[in-house]
Formats: sequence, C-alpha cells, structure tokens
Amino acid sequence: MPSPKKAKSANTMWGGRYAAGPSEIMGRINPSIDIDKRFYAEDIAGSLAHAAMLAKQGIISAKDHKAIVGGLAMVKAEIEAGRFEFKTALEDIHMNVESRLAELIGPAAGRLHTARSRNDQVATDFRLWVRNAIDTLDRAMTALQAALLDKADAHAGAVMPGFTHLQPAQPVTFGHHMLAYVEMIARDRGRFADCRRRLNENPLGAAALAGTSFPIDRHATARALGFDRPMANSLDAVSARDFALEFLGAAAICAGHLSRLAEELVIWTTPQFGFVRLSDAFTTGSSIMPQKRNADAAELVRAKAGTILGAFTGLAAVVKSLPLTYAKDLQEDKPPVFTAFDSLELGLAAMAGMIADMTVNEAALRARALAGYTTATDIADWLVRARGLPFREAHHVTGRIVRLAEERGCGLEELSVADLKTIDARLDQAALDVLSLDRSVASRTSFGGTAPKNVRAAAKAARRKYLGKAKP
Ligand code: ARG
Repeated sequence: MPSPKKAKSANTMWGGRYAAGPSEIMGRINPSIDIDKRFYAEDIAGSLAHAAMLAKQGIISAKDHKAIVGGLAMVKAEIEAGRFEFKTALEDIHMNVESRLAELIGPAAGRLHTARSRNDQVATDFRLWVRNAIDTLDRAMTALQAALLDKADAHAGAVMPGFTHLQPAQPVTFGHHMLAYVEMIARDRGRFADCRRRLNENPLGAAALAGTSFPIDRHATARALGFDRPMANSLDAVSARDFALEFLGAAAICAGHLSRLAEELVIWTTPQFGFVRLSDAFTTGSSIMPQKRNADAAELVRAKAGTILGAFTGLAAVVKSLPLTYAKDLQEDKPPVFTAFDSLELGLAAMAGMIADMTVNEAALRARALAGYTTATDIADWLVRARGLPFREAHHVTGRIVRLAEERGCGLEELSVADLKTIDARLDQAALDVLSLDRSVASRTSFGGTAPKNVRAAAKAARRKYLGKAKP
C-alpha cells in the first residue's frame, strides 16, 4: 500500500493543537460536506437563532450580533447563487459556513460558536430538515389521495372482481378499491405526523454533550426555530437519532403501500387483465417488441420500497450499540434519510401522476368480475336469508352448484332454475337473481362495505377528512 500523503496544514477551525494535517485518506473518509450542504438553510437558521439568543443574553455584543446576521445573509446568498466554494478540507456545512463568515466579517464570526458545538448544531439542523421533509411529503401524500379520490368518484359503481390470494373472491367496485389506498395513505400521513410531533424538540444548547456554563436560553432558540420545547437531556440531545429512524420507518411503510398499488398496476395493465391503461406519459415501449407498453414507473415505485426499507435497516444498524453520546458514526445518518426522502417524494409524485392519468376499462372489469364464480357467496347468503339454512349447510349446497357449473364449463348465471332444482329443491328463480353483479355489490351495505352508495358516501367523507374540502 502506498503510504498515505499528508495534507499541507492542520484544520484552521480546530487546529490549535495539531501540527500536521490529515492524511489523504482521512481527507476522504472524514468530510461530509458533499452530503450535508443540503441543509445549509437549516444550518444558517440555527445559527441566526443562536446568535440572537447570545446577544439577548448579553453573551455577545449587539454589534457582533449585527455583523453575524449580515454575514450569514451573505453566506446564504452566495450558496443560493452557486457562488459559494464548498471546501472538503473544512469537513462539513457547519465549518464551511463559519469559515466563510470569518472571511466576510472578521473576528466577530469566532463568537458565534460560543456555548454551542457541532454536536448540538448538527442534531438541530437535521431535525429541522426532517421536519421540512415531513411537510413536503404530507403535501405529496395528500395529492395522491386526491388523485385516488377522483378515480373513486368516477368509478364508484364500476364492478370488478375482488381478490383474495389473487383468486377471484367477490365482486367489489373499483371506487372501493381506490378508497382502500386512500385509507392506507391516511395512516401513513398519521405516522409522519406522529414522528414530527416527537422530533419537534430543540437540541441546540446541549453543546458538546454536557450543556454549557454560559447563561443561554434554550427556550428562546426553541421558539425561534419553531420547536415545541428544548430537549430535556443534553446527552440525549446530541446522540438521539430515533427521530430519523421513525422517519425512515414511516417512509418504509408508506413506500410499502405504494409498492402494493404499483404491483396492482403492473398486473392490471397486462393484456391478461386489461383493467386499466396507463398514459403514454408513464409507460415505455420496447426497442425490439413494437407491441410493448411497459409500466416502468410503477415498477420503479415498486422497487423504491426496497431501497427505502434498506435505508431504514442501514441506519438502524449504524445506531445500534453506539455508546452515548456523539460518535462520528452518526455522520452516516444523513445519506439514508436523504435517499429515502428523495425516493419517496418521487415515488409519490409518480404514483399520483399514474393514477390521475390512467383510464379504467369498466367493460373489462365487469367482464372479469363474474369469472371464477365470484357471486357464489351471494347464493349461500340467499339460502341463509330466504330459506333459513345454517351458513355451513348453505355453503355446502352452493359448493355443489359451483361444481355443476364447472362441469358444464359455464358461469353460475348460465344455469337454469331446473339445474338448481337438481341440487336442492329449495332453490328457485330468486336464487338466480342474486347472481347479478350489480345486485351483489349493491347488497354489501354494511359499514365500510363495497355497495356503490357506500362508496360514494365514503369518498365524500374521505374528501372532507383528508383533503379538508368537498369535491370541487
Ligand atoms: N459532520 C458531523 C456530522 O454530521 C458534524 C458533527 C461533528 N462533531 C464532531 N464532534 N466531530 O455528524
């Protein structure tokens, strides 16, 4: 192995006791700036809150405070204009910002880090970033719910086969199927909201780990940054990453829901099913097979669930067994969170786009709805209701009807009253009538059931509850 080259000089931010700089390899493993520059805005917001508090408490002068505020505004403007030179030698966003501040305003910049450490700083920045991420995802999840609700309203009465084990089970309506996903996404939103509530405490002022001897006001910085309160324990404040894990857990569960819908789209768009057609905007052709129309976006949404789950398991493994308090291991917390956020945000947008654009083939849904004797349960229920049979016996009689249809190679609705009578004398025309798909779904009026009138009412209620408004 070649002996690692030495960098020229020690880090100016903490180089007091260092004679030599880091090895070239250290210069590659240690920095995080390529990753954490993403929360420059949160870092500057945290510094502004901290500086204001220091001034208010008389820890820094009003003059220095003013210089710091002006300097941080310049730094922010430089970053946003793409004029800021991020330096790997300065490791991370915190030291990049502070170093540039010093270039811009001189020694006053050195007072900003009073009563603070990068340990509480990074924890603060990251919480702020995740909080914003949750708000962004909430909007994306709401948009998906809106797209699903539009389809639910448009096809509230469209009969389709409902499946268990992916075997035809009972007829349901397409609207009902869409609303199932609206509910899943509602719970996902709830999980993120819970995570947001718990993470919204301020680590700033925990300093390196033990708190500080300066007369700081952690309640003031908490208020300024929109946190509900300061974190109660300084050791916990700098080392806790369960907020990130909760975020990733909620993201993994939500991505799992998206992947189920994505999988259904993949299945439904095959010619074998033909339930829906995705728009040109969300499908691809094949370079060799001209007939192809692939649901690539759905497949990618399906795959992202794996990536996001991997982000959760990755971070869970990083933080397990870490002794209190901060360790550099914790620098590895950001890539999984950023990856998961990007994947989920894009996945939600793609799914909302696919759902909004898709056309539903109601005729195909209806044609497939009878296949597999999906109304058999309706006959069994009829025998119970109209003839007083115990359900078990009714089930048995109906099983023989299904077998007869199977032997004939026909559907239940193609059997005659005479056919039914050969099985059980108590069967008559009324039994045949319940085989109609529309009657079948219309009869399922129990709360949460698939009857079109239930579906219409449920869609209306969901619109009010989740979108906060009635149908436009
Ligand atoms: N870049 C670091 C991180 O992301 C910031 C905190 C560094 N703290 C320290 N004591 N070296 O975790």
